[in-house]
Amino acid sequence: MSEFTHPVVRPRRLRQSPAMRRLTAETRIHPSELILPAFVREGTPEPLPLQSMPGVVQHSLDSLRRAAADAAEAGVGGVMLFGVPETRDAIGSAATDPDGILNVATRAVVAEVGDALVVQTDLCLDEFTDHGHCGVLDSRGVVDNDATLERYREMAVVQAEAGSVVLGLSGMMDGQVAAVREALDAAGHNDTAILAYAAKYASSFYGPFREAVDSQLQGDRRSYQQDPANRREGLREARLDLEEGADILMVKPAMSYLDVLSDVAAFSDVPVWAYQVSGEYAMIEAAAANGWIDRRRAIEESLTGIRRAGADAVLTYWATEVARWLR
Ligand code: PBG
Repeated sequence: MSEFTHPVVRPRRLRQSPAMRRLTAETRIHPSELILPAFVREGTPEPLPLQSMPGVVQHSLDSLRRAAADAAEAGVGGVMLFGVPETRDAIGSAATDPDGILNVATRAVVAEVGDALVVQTDLCLDEFTDHGHCGVLDSRGVVDNDATLERYREMAVVQAEAGSVVLGLSGMMDGQVAAVREALDAAGHNDTAILAYAAKYASSFYGPFREAVDSQLQGDRRSYQQDPANRREGLREARLDLEEGADILMVKPAMSYLDVLSDVAAFSDVPVWAYQVSGEYAMIEAAAANGWIDRRRAIEESLTGIRRAGADAVLTYWATEVARWLR
């Protein structure tokens, strides 16, 4: 009969108390690495709640200013602005109009918070086109890559002039980073940074966002956003964006793409961010509202997982709330 040997190696030693767990935690969330995405709607005097994203609104200009000030006060690192225009057309004219809602809102937020927050803007046409696609269409109704690049170049200069410091290129057109970099530099905006949505997947988890921006989209974005089945392709997109001059890389969505995030983080020599998208927000809020999960723990765990996988910063609709918890 062999004698029972007690374990010598005991991982539980480092889990025995909150103090020990705090001391040995490998990953921490800090307010400054949270970025708040915010929607601003043209013409609304009051913020409008979003059904599918409880707690998130389409802001008025005034409520957006207050939300930005609150985020800054909580120590959040940045804000990413999305515009919801009153009128849309085939080429998304409002996107390049200096008086278009996104550009007006950018100026308003910069005036409100100065550089207490890094003010960033979504650079994509889907909120501005009447067909809801991220680019302009050719005669067959297919998104025309190179014609879209021309629109992005104009949009970039207008956004930089409005005061956006980081342009979030989320349209997934080939060559968009190089095209926009060239346009910015030619206009003297050498200091405007490019956040390249390097690996952006055609995801069902953008569902609630479509309500948030009153999307007009018919069909889907699978001819430009990536196939969820592809991991290697995420690295390829990231490498191309780096070669084209991206300052920061983004992986999106976050939770279903942590392998891609980990791959990109291991290879990138620029910061890598992840976007915890509208559907990820909605799932946790819905489950918590039903009493099926602990809301705060689920939010913290989801953000910790995204950080642990390699994100240097996270775009999350909970940014201000989480930043306050962490104080
Ligand atoms: C495109 C864009 C989308 C999101 C951010 N930028 C929608 C899409 O690609 O269909 C989704 C963000 C979210 O779901 O929270 N401008």
